[in-house]
Amino acid sequence: MKNRLFTALEWRDGQPYSLIFDDIYFSTDDGLEETNQVFIAQNQLETRFKSLEVEAFTIIETGFGTGLNFLVTSALWLTRAPQHAQLHFYSIEKYPLKIADLSRAHALWPQFSVISSELLNQYETLKSGTNQFSIAGGRIRLSLQVDDIALVLPQLTKKANAWFLDGFAPAKNAEMWTVDVFAHIARLSQANSTFATFTSAGLVRRGLQAVGFKVEKQAGFGKKREMLRGTFVGEFL
Ligand SMILES: C[S@@+](CC[C@H](N)C(=O)[O-])C[C@H]1O[C@@H](n2cnc3c(N)ncnc32)[C@H](O)[C@@H]1O
Repeated sequence: MKNRLFTALEWRDGQPYSLIFDDIYFSTDDGLEETNQVFIAQNQLETRFKSLEVEAFTIIETGFGTGLNFLVTSALWLTRAPQHAQLHFYSIEKYPLKIADLSRAHALWPQFSVISSELLNQYETLKSGTNQFSIAGGRIRLSLQVDDIALVLPQLTKKANAWFLDGFAPAKNAEMWTVDVFAHIARLSQANSTFATFTSAGLVRRGLQAVGFKVEKQAGFGKKREMLRGTFVGEFL
């Protein structure tokens, strides 16, 4: 494990804080509830998992961070999706957490300890580039892409059913929300692909509308007034 791969963060009041971006990884009000209200609810995942008629469901996430979104989504998948179906979860992360920090973050949500320990066992050998993890006897496949979003997105070919756009606020991390990133999100979308994000920044709303998403504002979580969700109605490439 090369240490330079991993990011330094600070623990403030028991929660991880990014020194690079001067920002929180998840809401200090309640990170778990934020994931549920933003990424799960706005992508209508509970209903979509329960009524799944195909063999697989693909989620692409911009910013793996602590893996909280992955843990919550995986737990929902295992209780709602048909036994034979497979969740394909792609997540992109340029600055992965050290395993000790990931483990400390996961200890905040002991209800996910089984999925977390499977993940942590495989995270031991994390490297730059593509990392494939198999969870729950193969019912979940995590493809953790350790690199800059600008380099990873152009290489992906799998279309997403749902997007988790979670890369720190645009004011603090413009690189995560560029015109090129939005164009690749559209390329990797299909009929009824949805996205959810915690931000309501005009740049994000306009960027996603411009590439073919119907975007709606929703009441935001915690201290945030609004957030965005949307459905792809553009041209499928
Ligand atoms: C708000 S955190 C994500 C939280 C995460 N989804 C969770 O469940 O904990 C945003 C993440 O985006 C990553 N990130 C920032 N800029 C990036 C870039 N250019 N390419 C890839 N990842 C990036 C950060 O390192 C950070 O882990």
